[in-house]
Amino acid sequence: MQIPFFDIRRQYQSIKQEIDEAVLLCLENGQFIGGEEVKKFEYKLAEYIGIKNVIGCGNGTDALQLALMSLDFPIGSKIIIPAFTYIAPIEVAKFLGYEIIFADVDKQTFNINLEHIKKVYTDDVRAVAVVHLFGQICSDIDEINQFCLDKNIFLIEDNAQSISAEKIINRNSLMTTSFFPTKNLGAFGDGGAVLTNDEILSKKIRQIASHGQTKKYEHTIIGINSRLDTLQAAILNIKLQYLDRNIEKRKEIANLYNKAFASIPQIETPKDFGRHTFHQYTLKVDEEHRDNLKEYLKQNGIETNIYYPIPAHLQSAYLQSISLPNTEMLCKTVLSLPIFPELKPNEQLYIIKNILDYFQK
Ligand SMILES: Cc1ncc(COP(=O)(O)O)c(C=O)c1O
Repeated sequence: MQIPFFDIRRQYQSIKQEIDEAVLLCLENGQFIGGEEVKKFEYKLAEYIGIKNVIGCGNGTDALQLALMSLDFPIGSKIIIPAFTYIAPIEVAKFLGYEIIFADVDKQTFNINLEHIKKVYTDDVRAVAVVHLFGQICSDIDEINQFCLDKNIFLIEDNAQSISAEKIINRNSLMTTSFFPTKNLGAFGDGGAVLTNDEILSKKIRQIASHGQTKKYEHTIIGINSRLDTLQAAILNIKLQYLDRNIEKRKEIANLYNKAFASIPQIETPKDFGRHTFHQYTLKVDEEHRDNLKEYLKQNGIETNIYYPIPAHLQSAYLQSISLPNTEMLCKTVLSLPIFPELKPNEQLYIIKNILDYFQK
């Protein structure tokens, strides 16, 4: 049996008629930039998440860039970012000329937490960028938010992987997300958004995303061009209706995996601290077994992934001679299994059987 890590075609097949109709309507209307579909999606997503403003943009990396640009920090400003993450928040901060203060993460949640933020915090830090990794909101996000308020620094939340894990967001942070096809809410191409309750920043971000224009050809601040495509918005309007159902399916698969692997001493199953959407199902596997298990599963047709193999502070582009033991340990032990709503029951059982077989050999 061949099991892909993710299969977007199955998702399309399951809602083909609705998607085809929505896409055709865009083509017939000749509306490819902006328009009703984009407006509707921004409104619907804001309503779904329980936040005041959603600004669609080109992708999740642009969303981070727009968020940071709107804060206007001087060059060289310090920003705390976890070292165990996808690279996007780090590359954007570096690109804008900021100094990255790497923080370690919690061993169990894979996420940055207040303890690790406090360890690297100094009075000249301007912002904390948290990453809600693998589908799970940082378990102490409210404490992190309070810490940022007390210190009068800004909170940026990279929520590319965990959209829908939280409904009703009261924080005044800038949250960013991605609609990359494999995400919880994936488009059929690129897309992203900034989400915030802050009305002033919301307006500013919209302006930055549109060349810094107040109106056509009047540029009062420096901007970029980053738009959520109309076709993608039309697709997302359909897919948003299935988001809750899809998250439930992810949780069901995670529960099945959790039960099946509970008695294997060499692996640790992911902990759910109450706000997990299982965007990824990431095991911790004893270092001496991780790569062998990955290879064994590959030989048996099962695709897995390692998120992330190299800590950000050890990447040559962002190298810092610091030691972050949890991040370094996780990079050697994590292994993500296929988990997507359309993964079939017989495929789930095949994955489980192969992992049990590997450890019983
Ligand atoms: C945590 C995180 N942040 C940012 C991004 C960037 O999103 P995009 O690929 O849409 O630019 C990703 C996506 O892959 C991500 O996983």
